[in-house]
Amino acid sequence: MKKGKKLYEGKAKIIYATNDKNLVIQYFKDDATAFNNQKKTTIEGKGVLNNRISEYILSNLSQIGIKNHLVKRLNMREQVIKLVEIIPIEFIVRNIATGSITKRLGIEDGTVLREPLIEYCLKNDKLGDPLISEEHILAFEWASKTEIDKIKKLILRINDFMIGMFRGVGIKLIDFKLEFGRIKIDGKNEVILADEISPDTCRLWDSVTDKKLDKDRFRQDLGDLIPAYTEVAKRLGILHEQSNVSAVNVTKLSSVKIKKK
Ligand code: TMP
Repeated sequence: MKKGKKLYEGKAKIIYATNDKNLVIQYFKDDATAFNNQKKTTIEGKGVLNNRISEYILSNLSQIGIKNHLVKRLNMREQVIKLVEIIPIEFIVRNIATGSITKRLGIEDGTVLREPLIEYCLKNDKLGDPLISEEHILAFEWASKTEIDKIKKLILRINDFMIGMFRGVGIKLIDFKLEFGRIKIDGKNEVILADEISPDTCRLWDSVTDKKLDKDRFRQDLGDLIPAYTEVAKRLGILHEQSNVSAVNVTKLSSVKIKKK
């Protein structure tokens, strides 16, 4: 497969064309941003960990029949994905209230929600990804009713699966963000899961200590982001237990032993 020109550069990833018009390459950068780009830095090794963790989660979701854009991981930072037309909505799923919802609605941090709560944000950096309702989505035709109904069902299945997967390794899935895209499969229009699922896009707390193992370490200046992401990868069985990725030694990350599938 030949890597072609850059098609799109986002805050944490770059998309390149390939010689197959239906496939693109997704490159994971080390850039970290928060609060819609107001805060940014580069954290060496983050892209490598997110590439591996996202590959692991998306391939597990495939195995339970949740179609997604992942074709295969190419190397430490890149994966081949199916080209989709991204639906311009960020789907936020919350199991425990923390982050923006606590400030927006005055909900106490850590409140356990009776049922998973789905929120919609318009994917528009200039507007700061504003919260929208399902009525806005339908009124402005960002997605159809059929698509939204299908996505909601998928989200609940993804949430159930991920809660169980993380619970099994001593991690609580607090909340996360998903994106979906349109694609033609065998001449039929379908909606599939896209983007990434990683500690950049999820809130993950240690089950016993509530230690944050996600991008809140950067958002809240807690430090030690790489050790936290490495801990997630190790618990999921992606990295060998003995791999020792420290914040000061992340340049060596690409030589960390990766467990072959
Ligand atoms: P929030 O509490 O800041 O609204 O974030 C909810 C979840 O969504 C959290 O797991 C982080 C994730 N998220 C993203 O992945 N990208 C974003 O742009 C935002 C705002 C949140």
